[in-house]
Amino acid sequence: MMNRRKWNRWIVRMCIVMSAGLGGDMYGQSVPETDVEVVDAVRLPTPMKAGRMSVEEAVAHRRSVRAFRAEPLNEMQLGQLLWAAQGITDTEFRRRAAPSAGATYPLETYLVTDKAIYHYSPLQHALSVVREGDFREALGKAALGQGCVTFAPALIVFAAVEERTTERYGRKGKRYIDMEAGHAAENIHLQAVALGLGSVPVGAFDTVEVDKILRLPREQESLYIVPVGYPR
Ligand SMILES: Cc1cc2nc3c(=O)[nH]c(=O)nc-3n(C[C@H](O)[C@H](O)[C@H](O)COP(=O)(O)O)c2cc1C
Repeated sequence: MMNRRKWNRWIVRMCIVMSAGLGGDMYGQSVPETDVEVVDAVRLPTPMKAGRMSVEEAVAHRRSVRAFRAEPLNEMQLGQLLWAAQGITDTEFRRRAAPSAGATYPLETYLVTDKAIYHYSPLQHALSVVREGDFREALGKAALGQGCVTFAPALIVFAAVEERTTERYGRKGKRYIDMEAGHAAENIHLQAVALGLGSVPVGAFDTVEVDKILRLPREQESLYIVPVGYPR
């Protein structure tokens, strides 16, 4: 016999199958296939699901921080920030920490440190190297010389594959993607506060230049840079 929970899941699954059959035009009804397994990806520590600070405190204390100590962030901190941005929070349906229009998941997430540029895999909660070396100065130049980009110990960069969302929602999909990047960035800001860190959203940069530095595939475009570190 199916218990109530299993029964509810079965109903949800049937709705998804049926909506896909009807063209999948309902909001939030598709299972994303946008995350591929990367063989040489290095797993990050399992993210915490509880902390010492309440959401209210994190909201109350969030402020844009633009000056950071040089101290690098550790794997736990980086993993936690990336999980808050785009981590998988429902393994059954591969839903992520930030909402996504129609669960189309257009965002691709990159981490930049003094060591390398990495791509984050939400599914594996792991990083794979895109480019070795320190590209923060180059990114700072592309961001109109903003010191918060050049000197932050870590930069989280969101790029988007526009077609994933515009295929379903047409021109409105573009707006949805920008909204989604905002959700993901805010999750980073609040998680940073909860970890005793600071961050700032950076929208002022030369997209073409940043795309080149990150070696983004042709279908991706950079959207937002979030420098993170210990406030100075
Ligand atoms: C879409 C967007 C783009 C932004 N771009 C930049 C930026 O390029 N550089 C910067 O220093 N701050 C940037 N900010 C941060 C704002 O300047 C900041 O949020 C505002 O001054 C309010 O301060 P608060 O975040 O401390 O509340 C951006 C904020 C948003 C929402």
